[in-house]
Amino acid sequence: MILAIETSCDDTCAAVVEPDGRKALSNVVHTQAEHERYGGVVPEVASRAHLERLDGVVERALSDANVSLEEVSRVAVTVRPGLIGALLVGVAAAKGLAYARGLPLVPVNHLEGHVAAAYLTDPRLEPPFVALIASGGHTALYSVDLNREMRLLGETLDDAAGEALDKGARMLGLGFPGGPAISKAAQDGDTDRYDFPVGLKRKDDLDFSFSGLKTSLLYKLKAMDEGQLREELPHLAAGYEAAVVEALSRKLLRAVDLSDAPTVVVAGGVAANASLRRTLEERCAKTGITLIIPPPELCTDNAAMIGAAAPHATAIAYPEYASLNASSV
Ligand code: KG4
Ligand code: ZN
Repeated sequence: MILAIETSCDDTCAAVVEPDGRKALSNVVHTQAEHERYGGVVPEVASRAHLERLDGVVERALSDANVSLEEVSRVAVTVRPGLIGALLVGVAAAKGLAYARGLPLVPVNHLEGHVAAAYLTDPRLEPPFVALIASGGHTALYSVDLNREMRLLGETLDDAAGEALDKGARMLGLGFPGGPAISKAAQDGDTDRYDFPVGLKRKDDLDFSFSGLKTSLLYKLKAMDEGQLREELPHLAAGYEAAVVEALSRKLLRAVDLSDAPTVVVAGGVAANASLRRTLEERCAKTGITLIIPPPELCTDNAAMIGAAAPHATAIAYPEYASLNASSV
């Protein structure tokens, strides 16, 4: 069994995954509530909370899976990219667990982990496919080849999609994280009441931009008083969310056109968005593309996806990982 650990941001996560990386036996996520009062993740607070929680989360992952530490054959851990202090807590814990039992350690890239959530979703999935990762820190399109190598096709020139949602939610006075907060506020909103720009809509390349969208919201808000904002909130949220969904869907389908891949994988926290899921399901069904979007709990940060990536990452034999380091980029 693979024991996987993920602590790159504000979720303390551990999971037990079968050796082929196609089935999770447990997937424990502890989302740190400490950050809510700050309206964003505070790195040092995140590291300390990981430190306090990780042991208990690992124990739960083993007991939920009904697997003992003796049955674990390798330990997988996120080593990059992310908050450096937060990553280091996971890496140190993984090293300790692997070292104590003489096991190999598998360093996993967080983005490859997000994509690997698709292997848990469809255990028969094989590359090649096009992958969209839309999270709080990244928004990028990749072509994944037969060897599972990821080639960058396009990425955001400014904010990540999740970051744009988080910042938009903040401007609208909604909670953190912004993605779910905007969706909730948008429920009875009219997506067409306000005209929001869809970044790089007319450009034929595969890059994204969300800064114009943010500015557009800022100017609309400047022209409103508090009463108007309260009344218009559902429509503003709906229009803003729709612009993000449109930018992501449009560029993803463009990437599929250019690459001729029959399958697309959508991953990262923003892939939990109901409107994005619905839009992509409709458009992919129309064009005969196989769409794989993991269930929401496998889209946002979790350790099962890190375990799913482990069989295809290079393991470091015991005890050669003593000097293994984490990296923020
Ligand atoms: O992948 P993730 O959990 O962490 C990173 O690796 O960044 O993504 C977090 C991002 C946040 O920006 C959050 O607002 C967004 O994903 N998010 C959502 C939803 N759930 C999380 N965005 C839209 N709709 C959601 N339901
Ligand atoms: Zn992530």
